[in-house]
Amino acid sequence: MKGIILHGGHGTRLRPLTHTGPKQLLPIANKPMSQYALDDLKTAGITEIGIIVGDVYPEKVKEYYGNGSKFGVQITYIYQDSPKGISHAIRLCKDFIDNDKFIVYLGDNVLRKNLVEYTKKFETSDSDAMILLCEVNEPQRFGIAELDSDNPDKIKKIIEKPKNSVSTLAVLGIYFLTPKIFDIIDNLKPSWRGELEITDALDMLLNDGNKIKYDIVTGWWKDTGTPEDIIHANKLVLDSLGTENQFLIDDDSKIKDNIVVGKNTEISRDSIVIGPVIIGKNCKIGPSARIGPYASIGNNCTLKNCNIEDSIVMNDCKIDSKINLSNSIIAHGSEIEDNPKKQFLLGERSQLRI
Ligand code: G1P
Repeated sequence: MKGIILHGGHGTRLRPLTHTGPKQLLPIANKPMSQYALDDLKTAGITEIGIIVGDVYPEKVKEYYGNGSKFGVQITYIYQDSPKGISHAIRLCKDFIDNDKFIVYLGDNVLRKNLVEYTKKFETSDSDAMILLCEVNEPQRFGIAELDSDNPDKIKKIIEKPKNSVSTLAVLGIYFLTPKIFDIIDNLKPSWRGELEITDALDMLLNDGNKIKYDIVTGWWKDTGTPEDIIHANKLVLDSLGTENQFLIDDDSKIKDNIVVGKNTEISRDSIVIGPVIIGKNCKIGPSARIGPYASIGNNCTLKNCNIEDSIVMNDCKIDSKINLSNSIIAHGSEIEDNPKKQFLLGERSQLRI
């Protein structure tokens, strides 16, 4: 089997964070969100991976993942000239996929459970596709699957962001497919949002009499479309610290209870770290800092006098202020310091609530 990671799109709801890079490289617990997808594919034994990049800093994606050898996989980059939908992106992979079964993983989806079991199930089945479903409160935000009331093993209908839905089962951004999908996509029409939808392709596959299996996921799943989603995903991942660290610790980090600290990071004695927290390499924490719970601090950060909880601070930030940060995302290289004159230098579409 092969894997595809979607790494395009404009990430408009995440501006200004996406002015300087693709959203899928934004870190959650100090790891780019698309790396959760890559690690999940690798754990499921899939090492031939195609990454679809768009026109938002594709070079940053290539710089991070390279040819994949650092991550134990082989990466092929496929270019999508504009965000014309998930099905459009999948169609671009026809040559790369050839005759294999494959998994498409949206690079902004993060899943608690790995894909090992699902992959085995699909590999050995005669289904033409398999999808994963999860109960949600806002079905209008997602692709939704309606089950057949007479035979709940069967999916009756798959529909994108329905206004009024009888079902609350969202279709995750992880699709198990066969090359049959390519011919289906060739017959798709763009949706109301101008995209070739994956949900329309799956629904057409069903209507053509093909078999689509489904599984309902246990544990959490997060689609990280908004800053609130990212902060929530950060919290969910950090919650597994101390119990399941497989996706959190690099070789140089130390962990005690639910606090991970990178190499060469110093925490002064008068500072407090309340887990779950992850702190990267070469940071100076303190004096008088209070970090956590639910804080992810990147590499090379200096944090003095501040109180940070429920937040993400990316690499190379300097904070020297009595500020209380919560539910915040502070991007690479930002600086915050106390100044009686309150002087701000804020990039486009910044958000400041003080
Ligand atoms: C996409 C799919 C949708 C799916 C969702 C999962 O939505 O179109 O069916 O439920 O991903 O993350 P989008 O992120 O494009 O709004």
